[in-house]
Amino acid sequence: MRERLERDFERFRRELPADFPAHVREAYRIDLSARYLGFLLPHPIGKGSGQLSLSLDQLETDRAAGLAFAVLKTVIAEDPAGVRSMGAWAIHETRMKLERVRGTSGQEGWTVTWKGRGWDRSFQDYLELTVAAGELTRSGGMLAVPSVKYHLPRLEEPFREAEYRHTTTALAHAWGGDILALEQDFSPTLAGDELAGERERILRWLRESPGCIRASAGGIPVRLALKLMNARYDDGFQLAMMDASGEADALVCFNRLWSPRRGVAYGGPDLGERNLRVLHAAVGRPHPPLSGTGDIGSGRRIIEYARAGCQSVQLHTFFQLPLSEYAATAGSRTQRALHALVFHPESGLVAGMLELEQAGLLERRGGELRFLDLSGADGSPPKRGRRGNNTLPW
Ligand SMILES: Cc1cc2nc3c(=O)[nH]c(=O)nc-3n(C[C@H](O)[C@H](O)[C@H](O)COP(=O)(O)O)c2cc1C
Repeated sequence: MRERLERDFERFRRELPADFPAHVREAYRIDLSARYLGFLLPHPIGKGSGQLSLSLDQLETDRAAGLAFAVLKTVIAEDPAGVRSMGAWAIHETRMKLERVRGTSGQEGWTVTWKGRGWDRSFQDYLELTVAAGELTRSGGMLAVPSVKYHLPRLEEPFREAEYRHTTTALAHAWGGDILALEQDFSPTLAGDELAGERERILRWLRESPGCIRASAGGIPVRLALKLMNARYDDGFQLAMMDASGEADALVCFNRLWSPRRGVAYGGPDLGERNLRVLHAAVGRPHPPLSGTGDIGSGRRIIEYARAGCQSVQLHTFFQLPLSEYAATAGSRTQRALHALVFHPESGLVAGMLELEQAGLLERRGGELRFLDLSGADGSPPKRGRRGNNTLPW
């Protein structure tokens, strides 16, 4: 199988097979099926909300590449008069800078420095993109989910229902179908904002906003993911945020870190390490199904998130690297990234799952290794390392 993997990696440098999960199943007897927001996905790799999901062209390229799902850029909610309480988040900023970053552990990685925030075009434009996202989802091409930042009140204030209602019903009608799948963003830039300075306030948002969104959808059921931020507090508060989010259908854990010194959000190894530490601490606690995000640049990192409970992952930075960083020599960035994430003979998803099998940490069921077994999605807790701790075999 190792040799076959090396051959596949070489062969697919020029072109990834259109249905690579079927190939993985056939060649390695590995079932990559994953889940996000109750949708069964062919594999776990999706695109996190951001500058890479602003247009129909980007969605179409991702579908053709075989991405499992994409979350649209976050739109700022508005009321019928077009008033946006979180309007300060609709900043126009085009310049993104990809930078090398060294984590506190000394590990090297990448971060994207960018001063913008939410969707900076009209709500009507966003609704048009949402129509296309709904059609793409229903056609079976690719799950594509809108993302919103709604009004987040101070403790003594009510939630602005008019803004919730106007935005949610418009998105539900645009996305079409019997349900609305939606992500709610608690942005990293929010972590640096004075509004996010009070723990009780943040916990209230997490407890109460899902109810506001569901009540504002005009009777259409909402499948809601909360994308939790990395707050300015300790790991214990991250767990408290997860505990407060029980009304959601999924949690995306956790958005980028905030640098008060530079006044920007950042990623890289520190983000991955913090997220994994908190997620491991959350294993065994009741919470909605998880989708991981943060510093994912290899299949092994995906497995680490899966073993910490995640049933899918959402990447952004790894889809933005210079072309020279990918081993593939042709295809879109999404395709090249998928090639490395899945087929790399050392750090890829297939290699990692085969290694876990060899180490006795993952068993075949019905002759197959299953990605979802890594997270204990069948109800069993995720398997630990040999000594019963979180040590991975590599
Ligand atoms: C330039 C940029 C813009 C982003 N915009 C959003 C956004 O609008 N909404 C959101 O929920 N997350 C946003 N994110 C966060 C990403 O979706 C992702 O969760 C985060 O960057 C961690 O993943 P990564 O380490 O793979 O980049 C953005 C990230 C970047 C780098």
